[in-house]
Amino acid sequence: MSAIHFISPTGETTTLQAKDGDSAMATAMAAGLNGIVAECGGSAMCATCHVYVDEAWADKLPAPLANELEMLECTASERRATSRLSCQIKIDAALDGIVLSLPETQQ
Ligand code: FES
Repeated sequence: MSAIHFISPTGETTTLQAKDGDSAMATAMAAGLNGIVAECGGSAMCATCHVYVDEAWADKLPAPLANELEMLECTASERRATSRLSCQIKIDAALDGIVLSLPETQQ
C-alpha cells in the first residue's frame, strides 16, 4: 500500500491508501473522493480525472503517452505544466506519499 495525498481546491488534504498497481483515479473513486469524476472509467477518454501533480513528484512519473496528452487538451480547468490524468498514474512504492491537487472543476 502507498499513500496518496489529495489536496482539494480549498486546501483540504485527504490521504488515501492505494494498492500497488491501482491508479490514483481508482483509489479516489473507491473512497468516494469529491473532485474526481472519471466518466470514462479510466480509458483516458474523458479528462474528468484531471489532477495537478506536486512539482516534487512530477518527474517521478513516466511521461504521458500520446492519448493522455491529447485528452489533457480537453480539461475543464486550466491545464498546467504538471497536469496529468489520474487514471494514468499507476501507484507503486516509488510513489508512496505522492501529492495530487484537484482542479476547481472537472466538467
Ligand atoms: S477516467 Fe477518463 S480520462 Fe481518466
